[in-house]
Amino acid sequence: MELLRDADIDPAPLVGRRVAILGYGNQGRAQALNLHDSGIDVVVALRGGSGSMIEAEAAGLATGLLEPAVASADVVMMLAPDEIHAELYREIEPHLRQGAALGFSHGLSVRFGFVEPRPDLDVFMLAPKGPGTALRSLYEQGKGMIAVWAVGQDASGNARDIALAYGRALGCGRAGLIESSFAEEAEADLFNEQAVVWGAVPELLIAGFETLVEGGVSPELAYLECVGELKLLAELIEARGIAGMREAISNTAELGALLGGRRIVDEDVRGRMADALREVRAGRFAEELSQEEATGYARLERARSDNRSTLLEETYRRLSGSED
Ligand SMILES: NC(=O)c1ccc[n+]([C@@H]2O[C@H](COP(=O)([O-])OP(=O)(O)OC[C@H]3O[C@@H](n4cnc5c(N)ncnc54)[C@H](OP(=O)(O)O)[C@@H]3O)[C@@H](O)[C@H]2O)c1
Repeated sequence: MELLRDADIDPAPLVGRRVAILGYGNQGRAQALNLHDSGIDVVVALRGGSGSMIEAEAAGLATGLLEPAVASADVVMMLAPDEIHAELYREIEPHLRQGAALGFSHGLSVRFGFVEPRPDLDVFMLAPKGPGTALRSLYEQGKGMIAVWAVGQDASGNARDIALAYGRALGCGRAGLIESSFAEEAEADLFNEQAVVWGAVPELLIAGFETLVEGGVSPELAYLECVGELKLLAELIEARGIAGMREAISNTAELGALLGGRRIVDEDVRGRMADALREVRAGRFAEELSQEEATGYARLERARSDNRSTLLEETYRRLSGSED
């Protein structure tokens, strides 16, 4: 797989072109600021009455309402939440210039049919592989965040060049750009969110904490063991890879990990991971996401409130000194 860096990428496709960033949230803020600092003509496009307007203007960015901002742009980047892309696209489509480029930072809404772009548009994806806060702070440090790019529709023949120039202006070309497709990125990202880092890992920490507490261990010690050491693990893996991490820990920890890891993550777990991937590909999660939005995020709100009142969270607040 080709990893493209700044030196491989021509910035010209964005020179003298205007980019409208739709949304000023996690990614919108970071992408607008990075593009602006890279000398790109950026306008942050927001709905009427948006509280983000003042914040974006205070950061030195041009702002506008959705329709005029979209109509003024050569490149329009969809950085509002995925679940509202269908509605947002319907609203902006009549205002998109003929032959404009439409960009996404996640393959979901095109892969699962929330958005069916007009045939005259170039459609690309530039998905930084991390949160907007880190995308911005790495850029400010002169570094970059690795990103995945793809072309979904190439009406002009220049969609690839626009995607790469966009990634370069975000600072991602300092770290590397990897080619993918909307489908591959969306499916892999949703799978990871559910079955690995954001879904399964926290549940593993919670289950470990609760097992120790039920076994008579104090919540404080259980927390330090099961949750507190995760940062050390992440840092070791980042610095040395998984094999290097295993070599860096004590023989006791290494043998325990060898005997215990595959006992917990057994064939049943792998089978359920395969099920999760199949269901993602069948569009089951995309339906859930749409329904969640349609019901005012009721399930997410309930879970947020339940999660805050557990013994694990109380222990976290006590140990971190963030108790009210
Ligand atoms: N979060 C991440 O770190 C991350 C990482 C990689 C890729 N992505 C992708 O980046 C995209 C944006 O995600 P995000 O997490 O940055 O979103 P987000 O922070 O939730 O986006 C919030 C912004 O969207 C605007 N917005 C919400 N509903 C809107 C509507 N109906 N019409 C117009 N604007 C609306 C909000 O406007 P107001 O200011 O008016 O409230 C706000 O400015 C998604 O495709 C996501 O998958 C995100």
